[in-house]
Amino acid sequence: MTARERVAGTVANYVDERTGAAAWMKKNLQKVFPDHWSFMLGEIALYSFVILLLSGTFLTFWFDPSMRHVVYEGSYQPLKDVEMSAAYASALHISFDVRGGLLMRQIHHWAALIFAAAIVVHLLRVFFTGAFRKPREFNWILGIALLTLAIVEGFLGYSLPDDLLSGTGVRIAHAIIQSIPVVGTYLSFFAFGGAFPGEVFIPRIYIVHVLLLPGIFLALITVHLMLVWYQKHTQYPGPGRTEKNVVGYPLMPVYMAKAGGFFFIVFGVTAFISAVASINPIWLYGPYTPGQISAGSQPDWYMGWLDGLVRMAPPIETYFFGYTVSWNILIPGLIVPGILFTGMALYPFIESWITGDKREHHLLDRPRNAPNRTALGAMSITFMIVALINGGNDLIATHFDLSINQIMWGTRIGILVLPPLAFVITKRLCLSLQRADRELVLHGRETGRLLRLPSGEFVEVHEPISPELAWKLTAHEQAPPLALEDVDTRGVRRAGGLKNKLRKRMSEANAESIAKPTANDLKEIEHH
Ligand code: HEM
Repeated sequence: MTARERVAGTVANYVDERTGAAAWMKKNLQKVFPDHWSFMLGEIALYSFVILLLSGTFLTFWFDPSMRHVVYEGSYQPLKDVEMSAAYASALHISFDVRGGLLMRQIHHWAALIFAAAIVVHLLRVFFTGAFRKPREFNWILGIALLTLAIVEGFLGYSLPDDLLSGTGVRIAHAIIQSIPVVGTYLSFFAFGGAFPGEVFIPRIYIVHVLLLPGIFLALITVHLMLVWYQKHTQYPGPGRTEKNVVGYPLMPVYMAKAGGFFFIVFGVTAFISAVASINPIWLYGPYTPGQISAGSQPDWYMGWLDGLVRMAPPIETYFFGYTVSWNILIPGLIVPGILFTGMALYPFIESWITGDKREHHLLDRPRNAPNRTALGAMSITFMIVALINGGNDLIATHFDLSINQIMWGTRIGILVLPPLAFVITKRLCLSLQRADRELVLHGRETGRLLRLPSGEFVEVHEPISPELAWKLTAHEQAPPLALEDVDTRGVRRAGGLKNKLRKRMSEANAESIAKPTANDLKEIEHH
């Protein structure tokens, strides 16, 4: 034993005798995780969160969250002697006068964009593979909470520098708060400490941005990962993989090494992008003044869909007893997002209600084998993309020489027509892919080799597929629709008839599929 090993052994013994950590570590470090590239998406979210914490801490050393008026005396000459808030002046100071400050600001902003993107892509992976099903519904809801918080945290972050762009965003948030019937005006007075923009908003959102939300994030992410640990990770179907086992590699050393390396890759890529690609050049926008707005104002991408929805709403307002209700802000700014996010959070329960499936699922679905769910996902993505496009309608208009009204009307019609169309097309595509799978299992792979038979007929030679692939293509279940009769066995109409009917229709639509090949089908073909 070398001296170094002896020291390591002594330290390990010392810690173990006091904490009993060895048995716990032995058990947990050998835990097996299934392997698939798509399981890295959650990790990217995790690592960008760590990057956000590190770079954000650096920024707090110089950022001054105050709306006190100052005259800029820093080294950026175009803004010299301009009156501005201390917050904006300190953000300029970080960008131009603190060593490495601009790089850190850019790392922080790029990491926020990547964090939000990674969360969304991770969510889509979980959704399209059905990983949210029992017993993981709670983790799904936690995920939706994390996504919502990430959007809010990002918005508060880019509102802090108090430049013209961020002030414009805060103005929209102010309008959305005010649109809430009855309490809106009071809430806005409360948030802004009086009339907009006031003197207290930035110090308040600063505390929420650097203390409150990161704390909540840390707690929720910890619970999220503990649940992944406790419930075990799902796995894709394949030979030897069942609902009762986990096929993969142990955490130590395989995943420890992979995860460590991957963290540095994410950090490296974020730092590289931040070093070469400018993001949020606040010095170009100037300080915020409520009377001004810069052309082409765009929020960060995760807010763009919301801005797009608000921009496309027709100007509808009603007056009740001297009060104005601005439906054009209330519906796109609060009601639609509220319905979308609540619907997403409840989706695992809605799906299990439709299918009547209350069992645990640890094997993932291939998206084509759940056509309804996949189509619903495609429909939601289409909705968001149309809204996002309208969020950039002014820039699209100037770049492509279009009229802003054309884009507005295009997206107004598009948001109603395209999502259902995406649903129908995706569902048909999934069923076609199922048909292709069935053909592959029954008739094997086309080799491209043509044979001419003695009769003169040309036939293509097919090659049987491997048993592993055949297993993968046929391992899924095809449950029949729920048998919900309108009348019970004695001919009496069931209570909740309409609800039953709706459930039955949805269950039938959900169960639509191409029958997978059975052993009998195969035998019949072999017989031929
Ligand atoms: C701060 C944001 C988030 C972080 C850091 C995070 C992190 C992770 C990690 C590292 C995993 C294990 C690896 C993987 O399956 O990718 C995971 C699994 C999971 N996440 Fe997230 N996640 C976040 C947000 C979300 C969101 C928005 C959802 C969905 C609404 C979600 C739902 C789930 C579920 C259901 C699992 C278990 C998946 C399985 O066992 O297959 N997470 N998360």
